[in-house]
Amino acid sequence: MDMKTAQLLRDQIEVERKRNAPPEGFPDLPPIPAGRYTDPAFHALEKREIFDKAWLYAGSGWEIPNAGDYKSFDNFNRGPVLIIRGKDMKIRAFYNTCQHRGATITREPCGHAGSRLKCQFHSWTYDLEGKLVGIPGPWDFSPDMDKSKHNLKPVRCEMWGEHIFINLSPDGPDLETYLGPVWSDFEWASRLRPSNRRSRVMACNWRVAIEAFIEVYHITTIHPTTVSSTIDYRGTVSTFFPHGHSRMIVPNTPSNYKAPPDEMPGDWDGGRALRGESNVSYHVFPNLLTPAGPSGYILMEFWPHDHNHTEIVTWIVEPDWGEGEPPADYFTRAEYFDVVLDEDTWNMEHIQHSLLSPSFAGPKCSYHEKRIYYLEQHVDHLLGDLVPEHLRVAPLLADRIVNTACAV
Ligand code: FES
Ligand SMILES: [Fe+2]
Repeated sequence: MDMKTAQLLRDQIEVERKRNAPPEGFPDLPPIPAGRYTDPAFHALEKREIFDKAWLYAGSGWEIPNAGDYKSFDNFNRGPVLIIRGKDMKIRAFYNTCQHRGATITREPCGHAGSRLKCQFHSWTYDLEGKLVGIPGPWDFSPDMDKSKHNLKPVRCEMWGEHIFINLSPDGPDLETYLGPVWSDFEWASRLRPSNRRSRVMACNWRVAIEAFIEVYHITTIHPTTVSSTIDYRGTVSTFFPHGHSRMIVPNTPSNYKAPPDEMPGDWDGGRALRGESNVSYHVFPNLLTPAGPSGYILMEFWPHDHNHTEIVTWIVEPDWGEGEPPADYFTRAEYFDVVLDEDTWNMEHIQHSLLSPSFAGPKCSYHEKRIYYLEQHVDHLLGDLVPEHLRVAPLLADRIVNTACAV
């Protein structure tokens, strides 16, 4: 984030704090049809048209530092994926499906393959670039068999700093184009190192889960002794970017305010400077959130298991600590965030249940909650005419999407 953007956001925080009504011309957002969160058929469409086609966060290079290190990835029930670092240190992704009889090549969540990947069923072997290089008992296969047709099937894989993203679709924009303004606005944080992975599965739709984190209207009720004392929701500034992404800045309360240093260290940009004064977070569509922490951020992944079960994975992302275990205060941060997450999640299953009530038209979003409406609107943008008429969300925020980070 450049300094101009940081100053623009500071100024807008003051505008937001002072207003006593939504800005002139902001629409009265209609209820979001509740069936969007409860209908298995709607969710099947989302899996096919969104999760099979979007760039999805798949981990970080910190997890596989050496050539031959791999992790396997199967969070979205669409075929297991293997992510491996090659001899050239490049990270690649493949479907973790052996081209012999379809076994998963490796069943461990992570490990070291050495110089070859060996399938755990009949030991077909592949090099680290996915090329089939060894078939035991070759005399039983036809001499006409073209081995090159049985290489591992690649999955698109690109890096944003140290973060790995994959995309099951061969079509669509590259990662930098997809992330748009987020790519550079949040660039300072892209090489920080994740630790303290935690996971929990909630009995609710993935958007019920995410939408609890893209507004802070709830903090005085849900987080009276935690988050509420650290940020002032009245000053919230939200920005919509293309491809469904959004940014939210919430100013810190005076007791939590840290002025940026008079002399900015050389690697500080506006985003790092602003962090002491406010909580800067992004929603990377579809399923990644980055609420800020004291010197880094919390990375949150949301993985739909089905229409009403969602896995929430959290990481504490902070400066690299070098060898050995992360510093003790990173664990302290993880424990604190667990308390916050308990507060946020205790309502989710009840909301999911309550959304089934025939009495309820659907969530009614205020101006402050407009990121929720934007998320829903973008879902419909991708599903198009596939959305049944009674579940549609009108694109009322379409003319508020900006192509630059330096806008609100
Ligand atoms: S299924 Fe992989 S070697 Fe047979
Ligand atoms: Fe919360």
